[in-house]
Formats: sequence, structure tokens, C-alpha cells
Amino acid sequence: MCGIFAYVGSDNKASQKVLEGLKLLEYRGYDSWGIASRIQNSKFKIQNSKFTLEKHVGKIGNAELSSELSANSSQLALGHTRWATHGGVTVENAHPHLDCKKEIAVIHNGIVENFQEIKHELVKKRHVFTSQTDTEVIPHLIEEYLKKEGFASSVKDAFNRLKGLNAIVVAYAPSSEIIAAKTGSPLVMGHATDGFYIASDASGIIKHTKKVIFLKDNEMVILGKNIQLVSLSGGQKITPRYETINWKIEDEEKGAYKHFLIKEIHEQLNVIEYIALNSLADSNKLANLIDKAFGTFMLGCGTASYAALAGTYLFSRIAKKHVNFSIGSEFTYLIDYLTPESLVIPISQSGETIDVVSSIEHAKEKSSKIAAVVNVRGSTIYRQADEKILLYAGPEKAVVGTKSFTAMVAILLLSAFSLAKKQNEGKKLLHQASKNIRDILKENYIKEIKKVVEKIKKKEHIYIIGRGLSYAAALETSLKIKETSYMHAEGFAGGELKHGVIALIEKGTPCIVIAPLDETYDDIISNAAEIAARGGFIIGIGPKNNSVFDAFLPTEDCRDATFIPQVVIAQVLAYNLALSRGISDPDKPRNLAKSVTVK
Ligand code: AGP
Repeated sequence: MCGIFAYVGSDNKASQKVLEGLKLLEYRGYDSWGIASRIQNSKFKIQNSKFTLEKHVGKIGNAELSSELSANSSQLALGHTRWATHGGVTVENAHPHLDCKKEIAVIHNGIVENFQEIKHELVKKRHVFTSQTDTEVIPHLIEEYLKKEGFASSVKDAFNRLKGLNAIVVAYAPSSEIIAAKTGSPLVMGHATDGFYIASDASGIIKHTKKVIFLKDNEMVILGKNIQLVSLSGGQKITPRYETINWKIEDEEKGAYKHFLIKEIHEQLNVIEYIALNSLADSNKLANLIDKAFGTFMLGCGTASYAALAGTYLFSRIAKKHVNFSIGSEFTYLIDYLTPESLVIPISQSGETIDVVSSIEHAKEKSSKIAAVVNVRGSTIYRQADEKILLYAGPEKAVVGTKSFTAMVAILLLSAFSLAKKQNEGKKLLHQASKNIRDILKENYIKEIKKVVEKIKKKEHIYIIGRGLSYAAALETSLKIKETSYMHAEGFAGGELKHGVIALIEKGTPCIVIAPLDETYDDIISNAAEIAARGGFIIGIGPKNNSVFDAFLPTEDCRDATFIPQVVIAQVLAYNLALSRGISDPDKPRNLAKSVTVK
């Protein structure tokens, strides 16, 4: 997902601010980046009413500003980290993009579905294009409108021409203004003492101000000497809705940890404890909504989908309640049976995953109620929902989800116990799971995990089996291993072993067996024996060792919550597997973005 950062104000270090802002957004995943600044020649104090561009392919890393941008002051600058969609990973395709006169600079998140038609029209009007991107049509389209109208109405009219879900930030050198507009992808505006900031999420802004406005779809904010919030449809003024971000700056930094990933794995202790103490009302609210609904559908993508799948088992075994599950990208094809009595529960860390956002739009067309379980206040899914349940996991900067998964399943477990009128039992199990995770994260336990890593790090494939709740845990374990260590990992239901996968087992093939002390234990041990009989290397994770295991990583028996410490073991294993396989930055896996905001 691309990163957006812009500044206009009284500070002369706009270019430097933007570079630092982009670095705070690196975790979102990208493959090129750029900055546009309106530089002031500090010797003559001449305002340059054109933009100076600096663009690069690759990561920002410890990059410094180019000499031109660093030697001159600037009070108006914007920057972007691009994750290529239309047009390859090249300097020309990196944002920002300018108009012919270099007075308009644009950065963009999303896809302009009708850009070919607009580009054709603009080329006929002799506009010159330098990239293959859809984005580049935007500054030239605004330039066209500027021939007849003011800057703000030109941006509004140009933006309303764009088809698709888009978020843009436009800077205009002659008037020293910045305008942001969106119909998808988040944009947050920060109002600081030294001026205005715009970013794709609060991470970039929090060090400057906690006073923010989360831009809503079909809104446009105009920033210059002051601030104006207007509707994109009719242009009517909207009273600015200030909110205060409740994150602390240290939440953003790695602190004593080498990577955000291991930091966030360790933060799970606080996350579970916080939820067990503070999310009782929220989990009750969710329980009541599920109880009243005629059909409940949980949906999410990736890790969030496995949390949703775990939710179906939790509500069945704890509250005897049928809850449906769907992968976010598949739900759109399943919604014909939705009614106004249906309840849809989108689950998402970022609150921006496009497959979930669009599924919600379709569900709302059926007048179904939306109760979102999200981590980011003010995110798109947070705003789409009728009811919002926050994860309170704090900012999750590693692309690989860890504490967000634990928060998701902790809320669902607590909610299932609330529905069964046994909320205290749920709280107790979460405390037990948290205590067990504390032991798992101690150095001597991690040493045991590293021994297993040494045995499997050179393997090409690994399989993970589980049944019931542990099936969801097996899927999440396989995703952690894949996206962190790039080892091929396949998670599947133990009962499916003999329906095909067993054909792949050879001597030494590693297989993780998730074996809680519940009704699945005997059957999953039989599956483990079938794999061992074909030479597989069996790694057992659970409360009870077994002779079929070649390696054993114990957990406490936390009953319905046992899968939570089991998944934490998988997270630590995946992290150490990545390091052992020479992956230098597990926070930013290749090809992945923190949130998938384009289809
Ligand atoms: C999880 O480790 C991955 N980063 C990915 O599967 C993620 O869970 C998925 O993209 C959904 O993201 P969301 O929770 O922000 O909606």
C-alpha cells in the first residue's frame, strides 16, 4: 500500500519533514519513492513557483535529500512511497507527478480506472506525459481546469472525473496550497503549530501533532493559510471534525528490539491483558448483535481470515451458535442470501483492505448491519461500520500480522463466552494464555524453538496440520512461515491428510502438529503417526508430549484459548527461521504491503 506525506506551513524544512515522514511509512511496503518541493532560494528569498522533483527506485533506507533540495529551504513539499500497479518500477513512474508547467504536484493512492480515456483527451490537447502511470493524468487534468477556474474547484472537478477508489494530495506552487481528496484509501490531516500535515495514516503525523481530521470519502480538505473542509459532491462547507490520536510516539519506534516484528510478538502480553480487562463491554456488544441477528458472517483476508475462521469454532463450541465465515475477497460472491436481519463482521487490522471494504459496500446495499473489528480508529472499515469494536493492539508496523491476530481472537473468544453468559471464564482463559505466552517468550524457551529452526531451515517445504480451532491455527502458522521466511508452507485440516497431501511426504519432510488437549488430540496424533510412518519429521506443539513427536514445544492447557500460545510459538519460529535463512529485514517481506488497498 503506497505511503503519502505532505506539509505546508511556516517551517522552512518542508523537504526534510517529508523525507522523515516517508521513512515512518516505509512499513507499508513499496518499491520506489519521490519528493516534490517548492524551494525558496535562501540567498534572494525568491519564491520559486515551480516544483523541484527528486525520485528514486528502491528503499529510502538512510537516504539523504539531494543537494538541490537540502541546500534550499522550502515551506511546501509532498512525497510518496509507491507500490507499483500501473507501470513498472522506474524513476519516471515514481510519484509525485507534475503538470506541464511544473506548478502542480500530485501524489496518489488507488487506481484511476478511466485513465486511458482521460489521457487520450489530454494528449489531444498537447499535454506531454513522461510516465506510464494512471496517476500522471491528474496534474494535467487539473491544469486543464485551471484555465477556466480556481485551484480548489479545478481539483474538485478533476477528482470527480476519476473512476475507482482514489486518494490524492495536490500541491499548487503559485498559491502555496495543498488539497487532499478521497473516495478510498485513508488520508489523515494533522493541524500542528507550524502548519498542516497530510499522511496516509497517523504514523507519519503523530510526532508533529495529535490533533487530526480523518478525511471521509467524498470530502476534500484545502490547506494553506487556514483550513477548509468541503464536500466533493456539492462543494458545501463541512465543519472540521477534529479528533485526538491516542498513540504514544514510543509505540512507533522499535525500542530495544531489532525489528518491529519481534517487538510486536512481545507486545502480545499487554494486548491480551488489556483486552481481558477493557474489552468486556465491546465483546458483550458483539455477542448481543450476533444473538439478535438472523445469520452472522465473519470475514477477513489473510491472518484476519484465520481469526474469523477460528471465530466460527469458538462460537460453536462455547456458545453453541452458528456463525458463518468467508474470505474477504470471496464474500462478494456469496452475499445473495444477505437480508436486513443479517450481521456482517469484517475483521481487519488496518481497516483498509480493499477486498473487505468492497464486500462491506455490497453488504450495505442489502441493508445488513456491519459490526467491524478493527485496529485503526478512523480507518475506512471503521467508518463504514454501524458498530465498531477496536482491537487496541496499538500500531502494528511489521507487515506480518502478530499482535493483531491475537487481539482479534481474544475479542472473539471473550464474545463467545459473553454469549454463553460465562464472560469471567473467558477472561480467566485469556489470563492463562497470557501467562503461558510470557513463559514462551523467555530466553530459555526461545532457545528450544531455535533448535527446531536449525533442524528445518534448509528444507524447501513444511506442512502444518490441526483440527477444529487448531485448523485455523495451522493456516495462520503456514502464513507466518511463508511471508516471513519465504519457505513454502502448507497448512491444512489433519483429516485431509489422506485425501491427497500425504503423497507429498518424504523422508525428512518437516510437519508441525498442533495438538491441544481437546477432542481433536487422538485423531491429530494418528495423522502425525501416518506422516512419521513415511519418514516425516514431526514437531508437536501443545500441552502433552507424545512418542510420535521428533521435537516438542510445550504449551499450557488453556482449553479454548490454547491455540493462542500455539500461534505465538509459530510466530517466534517463523521470525527465527527468517533470520536463519538470511532474510535481512523481516519487517518488510518482499512483494508484500502492510495493507492491500488495491484489488
Ligand atoms: C498477515 O500477516 C498479512 N500481513 C496479511 O495476510 C494481512 O493479514 C491481510 O492483508 C489482511 O490485512 P488487514 O488485517 O489489515 O485487513
